[in-house]
Amino acid sequence: MDDIAQARTQQELIIEAKKRLSPAAWDYLCGGGESETTLKRNRYAIDSIAFRPRVLIDVTDPDPATVFMGQNLRIPVICAPIGSLHLMDPGGNIPVVRAMDKFGSIPVISIMTNPRLEDCAAETDGYKIFQLYVRGDMDWVDKTLDRVVAAGFGALTITVDVAHYGRRERDMYNRFNRRAFAQRSNLEGIDLTEEWRWRGALTWDFIDHCKSHCGLPVLVKGIATAEDAQIAVDRGIDVIWVSNHGGRQLDHGRGSIEALAEVAAVAKGKVPIVVDGAFVRGSDMVKAIIVGADVVAIGKLQGWALAAGGEQGLTRAFEILESEIKITMGLLGANSLADLKPAHLHHGAMPMNPPSPWSPFPVVTEAFERWDRGTY
Ligand SMILES: Cc1cc2nc3c(=O)[nH]c(=O)nc-3n(C[C@H](O)[C@H](O)[C@H](O)COP(=O)(O)O)c2cc1C
Repeated sequence: MDDIAQARTQQELIIEAKKRLSPAAWDYLCGGGESETTLKRNRYAIDSIAFRPRVLIDVTDPDPATVFMGQNLRIPVICAPIGSLHLMDPGGNIPVVRAMDKFGSIPVISIMTNPRLEDCAAETDGYKIFQLYVRGDMDWVDKTLDRVVAAGFGALTITVDVAHYGRRERDMYNRFNRRAFAQRSNLEGIDLTEEWRWRGALTWDFIDHCKSHCGLPVLVKGIATAEDAQIAVDRGIDVIWVSNHGGRQLDHGRGSIEALAEVAAVAKGKVPIVVDGAFVRGSDMVKAIIVGADVVAIGKLQGWALAAGGEQGLTRAFEILESEIKITMGLLGANSLADLKPAHLHHGAMPMNPPSPWSPFPVVTEAFERWDRGTY
């Protein structure tokens, strides 16, 4: 595609990404753990919710803006942390921070992506969140947190659904060596053969330690039950992030939006809630907000947009989401996110498409079928 800024749909971005990525990088971006049941359930669960629209309400100009962590967002969507971003764009995390600053949203920057966190933070004055994986001992953790604070990140995400690395069998089959591809500029001096000793042993006390050591608001990413959400509320966690890692970790989990419903039942109104997992269309974002999220994070969609066109591609993906959210709100009879109510949803609808990361995109699905037949 000559000018990515002219893309009218996410479908064009995804097809362009597929053309540009190597097959192994595509599988790394799109694949899930083991049978990919969790990955597919993320989509299936969203598709199992239908809308109950209200009509004859003046919806000339619906406003999807919100405030999250003290930041004004144009739409209730942020960028989830993604490791090895250089596979999608040579600039790694730089196009993400630039696009989010310009569009008016928040990047969450993975520790596993280049360039160094200091260089990433220096790129814009916009609000940025850092995401920590624990790869070393407490001394390493404390020094890393000191760097995060000194660099000017506004908050810390700690990902907690990675006590063990999920079996990404596409990568194993492709002999995709994630250690060779991993971006380690934030892991200097770390013996990666030792990493499991640290991350497998994490408990809630570790979260408390990080919070008091760095003094930043902490988002706990990877909450999937009401029980753990209740602990997060009781412990004064700043933000609960409902996630199953896009289906890349534990297989045979539930769809994220199902977990969101029970988390919201204990945490809504007490602690802000982020959700991710197959949310790729404006209608998906609207469903998530009604079920109880304050904002929605995008993973694979972010990767596709970056692969398709770097900073411009990601900006375009957010603009398209904005348009889709506004249209969905208008067609539901809502002028603001606060107007969206549980009565706008009907649960237990029959999904119409066999779930996959791109099943919400019929043009993409058909293009990939032609591709497989060699007739694209
Ligand atoms: C290629 C890729 C790399 C990821 N790397 C990280 C990471 O470094 N840290 C992390 O917390 N989550 C990581 N995730 C998970 C995302 O933050 C997010 O939870 C997930 O992608 C959301 O689901 P979605 O891709 O269906 O939108 C990664 C996801 C993908 C697709």
